[in-house]
Amino acid sequence: MTSENRPAAPQDPQISEDDDAVNFRTRKWVKPEDLNANGTLFGGSLLRWIDEEAAIYAMLQLGSYRAVTKLISEINFVSSAVQGDMIEMGLKAIRFGRTSLTMRAEVRNMITRKLILSIDRIVFVALDEDGAPTAHGYSEITYRRDRLPGRS
Ligand SMILES: CC(C)(COP(=O)(O)OP(=O)(O)OC[C@H]1O[C@@H](n2cnc3c(N)ncnc32)[C@H](O)[C@@H]1OP(=O)(O)O)[C@@H](O)C(=O)NCCC(=O)NCCS
Repeated sequence: MTSENRPAAPQDPQISEDDDAVNFRTRKWVKPEDLNANGTLFGGSLLRWIDEEAAIYAMLQLGSYRAVTKLISEINFVSSAVQGDMIEMGLKAIRFGRTSLTMRAEVRNMITRKLILSIDRIVFVALDEDGAPTAHGYSEITYRRDRLPGRS
């Protein structure tokens, strides 16, 4: 089924209108190459998008290009998306450690208004030039681009 012949879904109570929880920034359009054999959004595509989104978020928060994925906690694929749907991804920093940043993630379907997945913890670690964890020095979220890493 595509989004063209699907009736409009009722509002889903799983989705909070309170965007204070996570910042929904990136939207994706589900294309044929993003589908699994069932004709719905392939989980691997979604995880690649989330990991990239989290990497950009971590770089902006930690002020470094050298931030790597350390841990992604349990992922519950609650619902899916079909070709032509638009989805949006949201992240929120929930803990600044000494060398790490922990984020929470949500992905929702803009067409059905359903939650697609949530991830309680995505941990990124700031590394030094030798690839060892290094203190990033931050303890709070920035909503500006004041920590953008420069080109070396
Ligand atoms: C990232 C890496 C350098 C961390 O090494 P490490 O030996 O675990 O380092 P540390 O024990 O000093 O921990 C570093 C930070 O990660 C956190 N951490 C380590 N293991 C963790 C886990 N299982 N869950 C959550 N946080 C964890 C630590 O609490 C610490 O954070 P803090 O300084 O804010 O307290 C190493 O695991 C690595 O290179 N992993 C591969 C990363 C990668 O290539 N990712 C891309 C995807 S494959």
